[in-house]
Amino acid sequence: MIMENKRPTWTSKYTFILAAIGSAVGLGNIWRFPYVMGKNGGAVFLLTFVFLVLTICFIPLLAELLFGKITKKECIGAFESVNPKFKVFGAMNPLNAVFIPSFYCVIGGWIVYYIFNSFTYLNKGDCGKYFTDFIQNPIAPCVCTVIFLFICTFFVVKGIKKGIEFANKIMMPLFTVILIFLVCTAISLPGATAGIEYMFKPDFSKFNTDMVFDALGQAFFTLSCGTGALLTYGSYVKEDDNIAKSAYTIVFSNIAFSLLAGLMIFPAVFSFNLEPDSGAGLAFVTLPKVFAQLPCGEFVSFAFFILLFCASVTSAVSMIEVPCATMVERYKMTRVKAGTILFFVISFFAVLATLSFGILGDFKLFNKTFFDFLDFTTSNVLLPLNSLILCIIAGWFLKIKGQTFIKNKILYNLFDIGLKYAVPIVLICLFIERLR
Ligand code: PHE
Repeated sequence: MIMENKRPTWTSKYTFILAAIGSAVGLGNIWRFPYVMGKNGGAVFLLTFVFLVLTICFIPLLAELLFGKITKKECIGAFESVNPKFKVFGAMNPLNAVFIPSFYCVIGGWIVYYIFNSFTYLNKGDCGKYFTDFIQNPIAPCVCTVIFLFICTFFVVKGIKKGIEFANKIMMPLFTVILIFLVCTAISLPGATAGIEYMFKPDFSKFNTDMVFDALGQAFFTLSCGTGALLTYGSYVKEDDNIAKSAYTIVFSNIAFSLLAGLMIFPAVFSFNLEPDSGAGLAFVTLPKVFAQLPCGEFVSFAFFILLFCASVTSAVSMIEVPCATMVERYKMTRVKAGTILFFVISFFAVLATLSFGILGDFKLFNKTFFDFLDFTTSNVLLPLNSLILCIIAGWFLKIKGQTFIKNKILYNLFDIGLKYAVPIVLICLFIERLR
């Protein structure tokens, strides 16, 4: 009881929304979204993604925030308060939130390295070779991964107000300013309109079910559904906040940031006749080729990697807060102790994942390198599974009713039907498809 009274809360509704947007807007928007969109034919993917975010994915996002707001507990306690038997489902969230940063921090480490080398790497010749040589190196990427993780854990250890809010208050405005600057730079390049057309002129012949599932997976990942991050953030919300409105703001900002990320990348890529579908290397190989040809390219490159850094730190912080909250509230640890343990545990997996691009490349789990294995099991299996379980428990057991927090009758009825039936069915389909 005493512990419950001491639970931290956000300073205001706005810092909560900012932190939730910080969690949602991350590598998923800036690094993953453009390359998955590039792989899936551009505008059709964008349309499908926006449609799914506004219809299907909005529901688990709001349900997760409400789950936290109503129960006011960390993940295990939140599920347990609905029924003690559900404790195990709650525990899947902090577990997933240990494994997701284990691969997320690898990319974070690459970003740190590119920030340090922004002013020199463009003169070192082939960007592709530079990148491959770097990720295969056994030391530098590991050191950078651990530095990145240390920075994120530091903000978590400092607590909600002095750590997480502080990080978001600095990084999100910086992120937005740099993004707008880079979008302006990209769309003013000669030939940029081809990139804009690629984003907004749909070619419906590219529409297929694989693309729909890619869009759905992307939507879940980018909205941070299924790790308990939203549940944990929602649990720090004060009683009087209108959470449905906040959820709309989070969703619309996420779409806006994804669009801006596309507008930063595709016009630049098309302007230099490069390929938009180069996969995960888009940010580290294709874009540096663009930077190399721009006047003051080093500065643009530096700004771009600072942008990626801000986006990824605020997301990684929200993931690490999930197990940290559980350790502090449930197992009565101090934040410093919980943070230290998490730092070492995540570092261990993250270093293995980093090395899977080099010396551990031959070590395979289910035919996948350790990095791919973590990415696949967390993003494709655990995220939709956790969201599915959360929706079922929220809809059928916690009996969340749209009427209590959404004013519009049509909308709250749609929410109730979606939560109990539509979203679980879609998620089961996604889940089966992903395991095929
Ligand atoms: N939404 C984040 C991104 O787009 C990733 C994330 C997933 C953050 C799950 C928290 C929880 O990068």
